[in-house]
Amino acid sequence: MDVVKIGLLGLGNVGSGVWKILNDNSDEIATKVGARLEIARVLVHNPDKQRRVSVPRGVLTTDAEGVVSDPDIPIIVEAIGCPGQDTTLARDYMLSALRAGKHVITANKEVLARHGRELRSAVTDGGGLYYEGAVAGGIPVVKVFKEALAGNRVLSIMGIINGTTNYILTRMSQEGSDFEEVLRMAQALGYAEQDPASDVDGHDAAYKLALLASIAFGHDIQVEDVFREGISRIKLEDLCYAAELGYAVKLLAIARRDGDSVELAVHPTMIPHGHPLASVGGAFNAVFIRGDAVGDLMLYGMGAGMMPTGSAVAADCIDAAHNLIRRVSPPREVRSNHVRVKPMDEMESRYYVRVLVVDRPGVMAAIASEFGRAQVSIESLIQKGRGQDPVSVVFVTHRACERHMQDALRGIRALDVVHSIASVIRVEAD
Ligand SMILES: NC(=O)c1ccc[n+]([C@@H]2O[C@H](COP(=O)([O-])OP(=O)(O)OC[C@H]3O[C@@H](n4cnc5c(N)ncnc54)[C@H](OP(=O)(O)O)[C@@H]3O)[C@@H](O)[C@H]2O)c1
Repeated sequence: MDVVKIGLLGLGNVGSGVWKILNDNSDEIATKVGARLEIARVLVHNPDKQRRVSVPRGVLTTDAEGVVSDPDIPIIVEAIGCPGQDTTLARDYMLSALRAGKHVITANKEVLARHGRELRSAVTDGGGLYYEGAVAGGIPVVKVFKEALAGNRVLSIMGIINGTTNYILTRMSQEGSDFEEVLRMAQALGYAEQDPASDVDGHDAAYKLALLASIAFGHDIQVEDVFREGISRIKLEDLCYAAELGYAVKLLAIARRDGDSVELAVHPTMIPHGHPLASVGGAFNAVFIRGDAVGDLMLYGMGAGMMPTGSAVAADCIDAAHNLIRRVSPPREVRSNHVRVKPMDEMESRYYVRVLVVDRPGVMAAIASEFGRAQVSIESLIQKGRGQDPVSVVFVTHRACERHMQDALRGIRALDVVHSIASVIRVEAD
């Protein structure tokens, strides 16, 4: 049987998963591919480090160039990530492998979101770029858009595509704990990074949304096109009010067609308890898709971790080996550059607004009048805890334009009976 050699760059979480899957399941994979997949070289930073998988010493190397440019290695898996928050190293290794006609596999959403166009244009005939693991880890969402839904016009995508923030929001609502407390716990358990900004501020979800929306809509979408708001300002009190109103709060990544424009946003969102995304708890991910032909579809699973992400990357290795043996490239990704990204202030939503006010007669009327002036109509309101100072008053609005809402919030903030606007959360209709 033929042997197809693979060069693995990185042996951390993802690299170790790929090593384990390709070795543990090597016989089944060889039968499927018609050739043995052999990880011939593994690039690491520190060869003396204790590993989760047992790799022969002679296979480990610190010589990146020796792996990437080895003519006997036609498949390169990039799993080094962005050391020092820099995408340069991963980008450079991938570019030189692609230019040498190789098949390159990555789970690195940041390098794809920042350098995707350059990387795609470096793919030569006979080579290919694969990135199933880059969005939602073990959930095969990239292939679903590229293959299973290829005949659809995708209308919208709503995703819980960051496990850390979903874990934090789930624990907050289940245990009645504050954001900071749950974040500390998540860090201690290894669910959140010591520097959690990429997850909690929504950067990670924005990279993934830019990738998914580019495939789904066939446009070249940049991460800067995605409006982004994180979860660090969400208070336990908001989750309690949301539950009372019949909603769960999730960090949603949303991409939606609207005529010739697309809406792209990552923000905390209240979704009705009856919506399939509302029950996605803990570190799980889910992607809810609406296509013109297929209707509604939801994919659910583990969005990160050594084995789930390893599963997606291993599948890409198998695809690449198939293509290599048949001497074909994967289908080219067609992207039209012209798409209008709807500016945030044109977007429409319902809103949950919690205002801290002085408990005094006439306060509600003053706030309602500011909403009315800005053409935002109120659907419901809740006031509890009379006699406290300040006291929370919660408004849920009908659908309103973001620009009008910001106008209303400016007016409300300026009222002398208003202490502050504690929270504003967008509300998805069912
Ligand atoms: N972790 C997940 O669940 C997950 C899920 C989806 C996507 N991803 C993406 O997959 C990529 C890898 O993530 P990871 O969690 O596996 O990262 P990781 O655990 O930090 O592993 C990185 C690996 O790269 C090696 N490395 C780093 N800098 C290097 C350098 N300058 N030269 C040579 N080797 C170097 C490290 O070597 P040493 O081991 O010797 O230090 C380590 O083996 C990232 O882009 C990430 O966003 C991860």
